[in-house]
Amino acid sequence: MEIIRDIAGIRRFVAAQRQQGKRIGLVPTMGYLHEGHLSLVQVARDRAEIVIMSIFVNPLQFGVNEDLDRYPRDLERDSRLAEAAGVAAIFSPSAEEMYPPGFCTAVEVEKLTEGLCGRSRPGHFRGVTTVVCKLFNCVQPEVAVFGQKDAQQAAIIRKMTSDLNLPVEIIVAPIVREEDGLAMSSRNVYLTAAERQAALVLSRSLQLARQMVARGEREAGRLRQAISEMISSEPAAKIDYVEIVGAADLAPVEQLSSSTLIAVAVRFGTTRLIDNVVVEV
Ligand code: PAJ
Repeated sequence: MEIIRDIAGIRRFVAAQRQQGKRIGLVPTMGYLHEGHLSLVQVARDRAEIVIMSIFVNPLQFGVNEDLDRYPRDLERDSRLAEAAGVAAIFSPSAEEMYPPGFCTAVEVEKLTEGLCGRSRPGHFRGVTTVVCKLFNCVQPEVAVFGQKDAQQAAIIRKMTSDLNLPVEIIVAPIVREEDGLAMSSRNVYLTAAERQAALVLSRSLQLARQMVARGEREAGRLRQAISEMISSEPAAKIDYVEIVGAADLAPVEQLSSSTLIAVAVRFGTTRLIDNVVVEV
């Protein structure tokens, strides 16, 4: 497996693969890999002969008071895991390579970015779409795989790709969880043992909502209340949002009628975790 640091290098690698008629799949990440990231590699391998993983902690998508400096990094460990999972090349550029002095262009998706995480993380999705658009242009993959864990991000990237006619097929893969239900995240390493235990309330509250829907509940308000009450019963949890929205347009719904995203963001100490479930009615 190659580790490529510059854009010219990844272009050369991709060109060589293309000459052999290989399909390219891209898995964008910020590294500190876990089973969730590696599941995306498997999905990409089903659809492309050559899988490239990008590992880039994108400064553009972190707010001023967010965790850019302490975001966990371990390229050596990531390389081992990526290689074992079947990644052909890691593209891990420096911030200067991606954003040279004078860089002043952004890609911004409107509307879908306003609610949910967009409300408490202004500019975050602008940073995500800008870097993902750049990664698509550097690698020019046939297919790119993202995780349902970041449901809003996946919906926004789908919209960007379709609105800008980017020739990339977007695949969204299911959330990978720890055995006890906690959604895997690079940020889970920030949690103390007590916070890690308390954080189980996220998946439990979403399970409760799923059961309520299965038993016929269609009122978003009642679902939101049940989720909020369960999360609030955990003293260490501070709710950022509990939202019930259309799965594709992310617009708030009152009555569940089709594919609906139930999404939560909750702080435990200094760590903000997100989780979600999609229910079909
Ligand atoms: P990162 O948080 O590293 O996540 C990389 C990809 O892994 C995303 O598509 C995310 O949704 C997916 N992922 C994370 N945890 C997952 C889990 N438990 N199960 C399934 N998939 C999971 O998301 C980003 O990086 C960045 O915003 C990025 C898209 C790379 C742009 O910088």
